[in-house]
Amino acid sequence: MSDLENIREEVIPLLCGASSLSELEEIRVSVLGKKGCLTELMKGISSLSPEEKKTFGQKVNELKEEISRVFSERKLFLETEEINERLKTERIDVTLPSRPFIQGRIHPVSQVTEELLAIFSQMGFKLAEGPDIEDDWHNFEALNFPKSHPARQMQATFFMKDGGGDILRTHTSPVQVRTMESQSLPIRIVAPGRTYRCDYDMTHTPMFHQIEGLVIDKTTNMGHLKGCLIEVFKAFFEVEDVPVRFRPSFFPFTEPSAEMDIGCSREKGEFKIAKDKGWMEVLGCGMVHPNVLKASGIDPEEYQGFAFGFGIDRMAMLKYGIPDLRTFFEGDIRWLKHYGFIPLDIPAINRGLSLNGGVKR
Ligand code: DAH
Repeated sequence: MSDLENIREEVIPLLCGASSLSELEEIRVSVLGKKGCLTELMKGISSLSPEEKKTFGQKVNELKEEISRVFSERKLFLETEEINERLKTERIDVTLPSRPFIQGRIHPVSQVTEELLAIFSQMGFKLAEGPDIEDDWHNFEALNFPKSHPARQMQATFFMKDGGGDILRTHTSPVQVRTMESQSLPIRIVAPGRTYRCDYDMTHTPMFHQIEGLVIDKTTNMGHLKGCLIEVFKAFFEVEDVPVRFRPSFFPFTEPSAEMDIGCSREKGEFKIAKDKGWMEVLGCGMVHPNVLKASGIDPEEYQGFAFGFGIDRMAMLKYGIPDLRTFFEGDIRWLKHYGFIPLDIPAINRGLSLNGGVKR
């Protein structure tokens, strides 16, 4: 009996004084484990008389219960202390400014759209938008594409299945009409967005992006159009000078119409702005056709203006050296890691559109 008492007197203070969960567990094992002192003591029970066995057994159980109660209390205490300690040391100050979220990347199309919007907004253009699903009027008719006009076939149109005549817009030019219908004059807008044509190869995908520009007032002329576009492309490519040339062209919604080329070299498949090395067509533009003004409720005798439209994806390919347009829309995370942009490097004119002139990703 006195052995039991000895164990009790020794173990209870030890448990109460244990300073860590592991120490507590060690003490428990030293008493109740396979080779623990209480376990050893119980091995002697067989040599006792039945009467002694009963009292001995009872005492052992009492002691075991006491030990496990003290053990649990101490354990709870130590666990609470540990949690409090962690709460103290791992406290997060939510008022700190966030650190850059460097896992995700901005898609080059989003980046280039932001860059273009930064340029245009500084020049006083407002943002305009229109729907992806268009009607024949806005996509064609009001833009001076008569019903049987062959120019309609130039744009491999996707028709909506319901037979209602709606289509997926083939260009962003319908936003010109929507803006003239709904906004007061003068107008100076850009409209970026998705466009759709049935086409698929290295430089064409069924869904792609365009940006449209429209300026309407009383005196705007072709000279303003040229000056505006030259400034935009200098700012976009972040260079002092961009060689450009304007060639006469045809679009139903502009008269006169032109296409703009930029001077570039393409040595070893790499695109660079350059003089006397060759030309690349980048956009369509012109003076808004009087029929388009009329269809949009504007008097062509009083108002005039210019319009332009170009591919955003193509600009991203040129500026950031991405060779295949199809890869833009495959959703490959490795591609995005390589060509994407860090989310907090937001394009702004005053500190460079793309940091380090477009080489940093
Ligand atoms: N909408 C034309 C296209 O997708 C591009 C274009 C040409 C837009 C001339 C214009 C413009 O605003 O004036 O091919």
